[in-house]
Amino acid sequence: MPSKNVLDDFHMFSWSATTNNSFRRKGHNSGYYQISSQSFISLFADSHLGASQSSIQHCRVFITSSNLSSETMEPDEKENGVEEKSDTIEETVLCVDDWRQRWEEKRIGFHQTTVHELLVEYKDRLLAGREHIKIFFPLCGKSVDMKWVYDLGHDVVGVEASKIGITEFFEESSLEYTVEPLTTITGNCYKSTDGRVQIYECDLFDFNKDLAGQFDAIWDRGAMVAINKDQRKSYTSLLKTLMAPGCHTLLCTLFYDATIWPGPPHVVPHSEVYDIYGDKCTVEKLCTVDVFEEKHKSWGITGMDESLFVISVK
Ligand SMILES: C[S@@+](CC[C@H](N)C(=O)[O-])C[C@H]1O[C@@H](n2cnc3c(N)ncnc32)[C@H](O)[C@@H]1O
Repeated sequence: MPSKNVLDDFHMFSWSATTNNSFRRKGHNSGYYQISSQSFISLFADSHLGASQSSIQHCRVFITSSNLSSETMEPDEKENGVEEKSDTIEETVLCVDDWRQRWEEKRIGFHQTTVHELLVEYKDRLLAGREHIKIFFPLCGKSVDMKWVYDLGHDVVGVEASKIGITEFFEESSLEYTVEPLTTITGNCYKSTDGRVQIYECDLFDFNKDLAGQFDAIWDRGAMVAINKDQRKSYTSLLKTLMAPGCHTLLCTLFYDATIWPGPPHVVPHSEVYDIYGDKCTVEKLCTVDVFEEKHKSWGITGMDESLFVISVK
């Protein structure tokens, strides 16, 4: 029986018709899942699709853990005779200078001019009733979410590689600031005159707890999904060292058809969140919302979900 966490990953994905009267999709880590046409139709060809087998050649469906039963899943392609063939595309790998270049060219489609709706809705899970806490914003860009929590009376520490992003944050927030070079790593620290906002201009992978201590809360939007996949473990290991006892992290992940768009943002499978944080933290999924917008159509995808997790130090 697959675990709940595995089932979480089956929320949205593509199934393809095969020649042997079945449908299949690629599993995120091993081979294909294959089910019979009959199961496919009875499970998924509901009123949305109004479909018969012949009309379903390649379609995107929503599946929840309640309508996907373990009997219909065959995760080992060797057992069911399906030959593995790569239908993924290579992810886009970006280095810090590539991101700086994006800021110079004003290619910052990730920036939102309003406070993130899920932060507003779930702020109590981040703050947990605490006042004047220290909140970390990894890969912060010029997120207006920082000003929002600052205005609620909390201290803000961000890390961002782009000087443009940092100076625009202070200017657009009407906060005066000073800049000081860092002595132990390459970079600068931008500080509001009241000292309650500090943004480190450096490579996140150089940042460490000796610079600004540990944090009571972390808001991870556009950060884990921006990190190259091969750096994800180093990223989360670093974040774990930055969590103070009692720290709550709110993490936004994205899910879309990664066989079509190479990112960033990258897909983060739900199971990976449980795997990667589960040793030190409790992980709870709070919600999944549809965030597909007109602009995503140019990526070739037809759907995108955002999920929010709360990750708390055990
Ligand atoms: C997808 S954006 C998200 C920004 C912000 N969190 C938001 O929600 O608008 C990722 C940001 O991380 C920065 N970045 C990427 N890699 C970095 C690294 N290794 N160290 C520091 N900043 C980095 C980029 O310059 C960019 O501003």
